[in-house]
Amino acid sequence: MKTSVLKIDPAAPDAELMARAGAVIKRGGLVAFPTETVYGLGGDALNPEASKKIYAAKGRPSDNPLIVHIADFESLKPVVREIPEAAVKLAERFWPGPLTMIFRKTELVPYETSGGLDTVAVRMPDHPTALALIRAGGGYIAAPSANASGRPSPTMADHVLEDLGGRIEMILDSGHVEIGLESTIVDLTEDVPVILRPGFINLNMLVDTVGEVRIDPGITEDGEAKQVRPKAPGMRYRHYAPKAPLTIVEGSRSAVTAKINELAAEAARAGRKAGVLAAEENADLYRGAHVFRVGSRACEETIAQHLFQVLRESDAMGFDVLYSESFDTPEMGMAIMNRLLKAAGHQVITV
Ligand code: TXA
Ligand code: MG
Repeated sequence: MKTSVLKIDPAAPDAELMARAGAVIKRGGLVAFPTETVYGLGGDALNPEASKKIYAAKGRPSDNPLIVHIADFESLKPVVREIPEAAVKLAERFWPGPLTMIFRKTELVPYETSGGLDTVAVRMPDHPTALALIRAGGGYIAAPSANASGRPSPTMADHVLEDLGGRIEMILDSGHVEIGLESTIVDLTEDVPVILRPGFINLNMLVDTVGEVRIDPGITEDGEAKQVRPKAPGMRYRHYAPKAPLTIVEGSRSAVTAKINELAAEAARAGRKAGVLAAEENADLYRGAHVFRVGSRACEETIAQHLFQVLRESDAMGFDVLYSESFDTPEMGMAIMNRLLKAAGHQVITV
């Protein structure tokens, strides 16, 4: 299959190109598209055959449900059994935006889309190209992140082409995404809302809006280390891991840089190529290893924006071993560290 790449200006998505993309979705084909979080791999959420194609293209296990993307609040009603008060408040404040909510599903949503569950994940993305595609494609687009299963989520159209080129009909290219980490997932099917995946919308923002919010014990650092089963199936899988083993070093700034320099020197003596993931502020303190400047601690959004790209670049450069600083930043730290710890298979050295 030839994958066509269409450049779409997010400031004014071209109506004719969007109609072409919508037609692919309506006839059961797949179109990758940008959102504010990461690129998604879209298919008609109400068409079981389209959902099956999504799993096949990604090489994703079919018990891992897809997120249904909508373009307006009215579209929520036909696909969910009830809309709890908390969901109304969260939608008012954060939709369109990087928040996915879990509801009980109606029969309109095929089990192929919900991964066999009686619940459905729904999100209204905040990106003109995504919203235009949803409208042109019939109103409901199932979209996981547009990476091959297990790889970091794509933050640019090139990443999608690298993973899925030749396997999907079309990629809409609107440049680099804004946030760089997948949406926050909140489960609203229990008495108290539960965070199933941390993201840009953090615990404080949610508590501020609806009062009490819990965190799924399966996704806390402690829970993951003890292998507590996360509620979101996708959070159970190995994910993001670069080819070279990655170790996180945490502690004070001086202790971390000293430890990573020591480990990099050891690697060099053994003839092993070492890479370091560092904050802009510390990048010049490392010796004898290639340094990736992930982003700036003074502007934590830049760390989230570039993390997945750096993990991909590190694969392309063929390292034997990778070390990373810890990025437990104030607002997005929980989301960043959740991805980084997965990438590192929870290998952490505390100094
Ligand atoms: O930012 C995002 O959410 C991106 C963009 C494209 O919107 N999408 C995304 O989709 O990250 P995906 O498929 O890569 O991750 C969806 C996660 C998976 O961990 C999945 O298991 C979980 O959501 N999920 C989906 N439906 C669920 C449900 N009914 N109950 C629990 N978890 C669910
Ligand atoms: Mg994903």
